[in-house]
Amino acid sequence: MSDKVKVTIDGISVEVEPGTTILNAARQIGGEIVPPAMCYYSKLQGSGGKCRTCLVKVSKGSEKDPRPMPKLVASCRTTVMDGMEVENITSPEVVEARKGVVEMLLINHPLDCPVCDQAGECSLQDLGFEHGAAQTRYEFDRRTFERIDIGDKIQLHMNRCILCYRCTYVADQITDNRVHGVLGRGDHAEISTYIEQAIDNDFSGNVIDVCPVGALTDKTFRFKNRVWFTKPVDAHRDCPTCSGKVTLWYKGEEVIRVTARKDEYNEVEEFICNTCRFDKKNTSDWVIEGPRAIANTSVISSNHYETLKPLPVIQQNPALMAANKEEFERTKKS
Ligand code: SF4
Ligand code: FES
Repeated sequence: MSDKVKVTIDGISVEVEPGTTILNAARQIGGEIVPPAMCYYSKLQGSGGKCRTCLVKVSKGSEKDPRPMPKLVASCRTTVMDGMEVENITSPEVVEARKGVVEMLLINHPLDCPVCDQAGECSLQDLGFEHGAAQTRYEFDRRTFERIDIGDKIQLHMNRCILCYRCTYVADQITDNRVHGVLGRGDHAEISTYIEQAIDNDFSGNVIDVCPVGALTDKTFRFKNRVWFTKPVDAHRDCPTCSGKVTLWYKGEEVIRVTARKDEYNEVEEFICNTCRFDKKNTSDWVIEGPRAIANTSVISSNHYETLKPLPVIQQNPALMAANKEEFERTKKS
């Protein structure tokens, strides 16, 4: 008999190891049925359970106890049981609840995407686009904070923080001492000076990559460009501190930013050191591997087509082929 347990999510079944969470079981299926996750991060122990964007409905608890769970559950914190049935995008209740969660997250988050460096790669922006309401019902002033410099390379703009705790887990899990934390609770909660102390660590820059919004930004990149005008390229170097596997973000001939490589769930594949991130901005520092594959749903992929697939109607019509000739040529070159 198989040791695996079977779970069905939005009508699609998958067999997973016991102890797997619903979210990770959904990731094994992939595609649209995967719940969004603003605080869970598979590389950070203890993450998850903070933001509630990953809520799902368990319509059948298990084969042994088929009763549904009475409330929606956080899929990043709920482990699967054999025979469990879960509804995500097929449940109107979940879709409605997620809309409410986005409204909550946006209560204190400024709508400053036009000037925010995270625009174009912000998980909250994507979430708001997919699930957000057109208007907020919140009538009070949003919380505001002074910006905090965390060393000379990182800036904390607490106004935008959604208190996902990811950066505090990075600070905790890359240093020997417990120097991280969220000060205060409820409306007064804020990421505070604790994480400034992580600045001496070679890996502190990773807080920028794990932040799902624009609260932690790279000061060497701030306001340099919109991310959709850049070209991401995978590259590596022989680094004594980290794997040296990064993505270089080019604007013309210039490397304007270096980040870790991120997967389809916006999680870094491997954490990189501060030397690679902040101090190696010349092409000659790197061995270039090739263009970074970016999901075609991302605004970053605009103008980065690798191959153009003309619609059948264009291919069948000589006049349309001629009219689009220049575009095909341009695409082949890029
Ligand atoms: S600063 Fe960013 S990573 Fe840290 S808790 Fe706030 S939103 Fe999360
Ligand atoms: S991703 Fe599950 S609660 Fe945030």
